[in-house]
Amino acid sequence: MKAPVRVAVTGAAGQIGYALLFRIASGEMLGKDQPVILQMLELPLEKAQAALKGVMMELEDCAFPLLAGMVGTSDPMVAFKDADYALLVGAMPRGPGMERKDLLLKNAEIFTVQGKALNAVASRNVKVLVVGNPANTNAYIAMKSAPDLPAKNFTAMLRLDHNRALSQLAAKAGVAVADIENLVVWGNHSPTMYPDYRFATAGGVSLKDKINDADWNANTFIPVVGKRGAAIIEARGLSSAASAANAAIDHMRDWALGTNGKWVTMGVPSDGSYGIPEGIIYGVPVTCANGEYTRVKDLPIDDFSRERMDKTLAELEEERAGVAHLL
Ligand code: NAD
Ligand code: LMR
Repeated sequence: MKAPVRVAVTGAAGQIGYALLFRIASGEMLGKDQPVILQMLELPLEKAQAALKGVMMELEDCAFPLLAGMVGTSDPMVAFKDADYALLVGAMPRGPGMERKDLLLKNAEIFTVQGKALNAVASRNVKVLVVGNPANTNAYIAMKSAPDLPAKNFTAMLRLDHNRALSQLAAKAGVAVADIENLVVWGNHSPTMYPDYRFATAGGVSLKDKINDADWNANTFIPVVGKRGAAIIEARGLSSAASAANAAIDHMRDWALGTNGKWVTMGVPSDGSYGIPEGIIYGVPVTCANGEYTRVKDLPIDDFSRERMDKTLAELEEERAGVAHLL
């Protein structure tokens, strides 16, 4: 059996936390031979801490063979101590009458504190995934608050968007999700994201050629994927939780264990390629091997794509400008 690794999860008593922790403890994220110690962070509020205690009781009651230990805390310095993986799920939700700008500022405070704590106490190789919205900019804030950790270790979740795009594409093309390769969702985890299937294939056949429907792409595929989060909130009265947790598991599993050459989408700090300014956390196609992700480079960008990629970039630059004074 391998030595246990430490997995920190924030917002552990929330909806996504509840759909996530049991799957991590059962080995679905890091493998059935990898024991884990869960380090769970919640707000110091009595209600949040009581709910966290209940989640920990349930984890205990599962008697997971791979669960080598648990810590429940309201102190980020405890939650992130020696963490090998950190899933930053907890965030301030948008309240009534709250502007996007107010949400950004509130979350900037949270992710500054958490970035500093990661910087101080986490493993120097910690892999960080930010799920809490606005995920890309929160990841940017955490990265900037942790100057002693490699910037490449900070990522934002676009995997839910990638998975949503896979399902829409599979249904339209009449192919199996598992057969689709080379899909990407560029940019921000927001309605401006650009799901791009120009390179996608199934069984070696180009899906662009097979579907051959520019109107469906512009007026159905792109908006349906981009607005799916809002459609779930409308239908459920709550934001996506099981599918979000599933995407977080996919993202971390692939990063840790590899993708066997398959493309997946991760929000990662830009290296300047594709005209994305360095440091902006932007969804790009990557492959993963040996615990590292590598960007898929030199894809041709046509005018239609450039326009969409620039639009989602402009939004990210605006978000970055909105929090610049705090960093
Ligand atoms: P939730 O409100 O059910 O749970 C969030 C939990 O985080 C709560 O228990 C809260 O007490 C806790 N929390 C808040 N601030 C915290 C802090 N500073 N430290 C520790 N814990 C804190 O929300 P949820 O449905 O689990 O969603 C969590 C976040 O994930 C939201 O921001 C949501 O918008 C986002 N989300 C992102 C994606 C994505 O694809 N990136 C998808 C779905 C949801
Ligand atoms: C989602 O994509 O389901 C969420 O990010 C929606 C939200 O605003 O919480």
